[in-house]
Amino acid sequence: MKNIVILISGGGSNMAAILRAAQQGNWRKTLDAQVAAVISNRADAGGLQLAREQMVATEVVDHKRFATREAFDAELAAAIDRRQPSLVVLAGFMRILTPAFVARYEGRLINIHPSLLPAFPGLHTHQRAIDAGCRFGGATVHQVTSELDHGPILEQAAVPIMAGDTADTLAARVLTQEHQIYPLAIAALLPNL
Ligand code: GAR
Repeated sequence: MKNIVILISGGGSNMAAILRAAQQGNWRKTLDAQVAAVISNRADAGGLQLAREQMVATEVVDHKRFATREAFDAELAAAIDRRQPSLVVLAGFMRILTPAFVARYEGRLINIHPSLLPAFPGLHTHQRAIDAGCRFGGATVHQVTSELDHGPILEQAAVPIMAGDTADTLAARVLTQEHQIYPLAIAALLPNL
């Protein structure tokens, strides 16, 4: 059985979409895969409760307990490795990871970013797309490499930007697309892992 570990920091709506797809698509049978654990760097992440309700194991590695990024990442890696994952999924995980951490999971660490990469890496993606006069925003699922929000693209969804859109209205529309493409990208990747 291929284990998937999902890392979250917040509401976990992408995590919820992945759990839903795993259940509906019967990933245990069809892909020989399961979500083995959800790990958060914040104890108050809303997604944790959601995961528990679905009987998925959860764990908190609070970044504030660690003096350095390296120390946090080492503890996070230990928590991840206990689940022996084939795939580590960043789903709204809002910590920058060290190169050593990224190297450890090379080829099996993926992220979703709320822009059409390579446009707008980093934060405030929707406001920046609106300010730049873009006609489309969107989201990208990509392999994680040591360069922030770069790495081979696995899946994308484009969303038109309407007159009067705010960062919030655009974000909400993009998020519904994220929920479609993230499970698809994972299901496509799993047979290769
Ligand atoms: C999503 O929009 C995701 O693309 C973004 O955070 C949100 C998490 O929502 N990720 C990043 O900005 C990563 N840099 P969720 O917790 O409801 O899945």
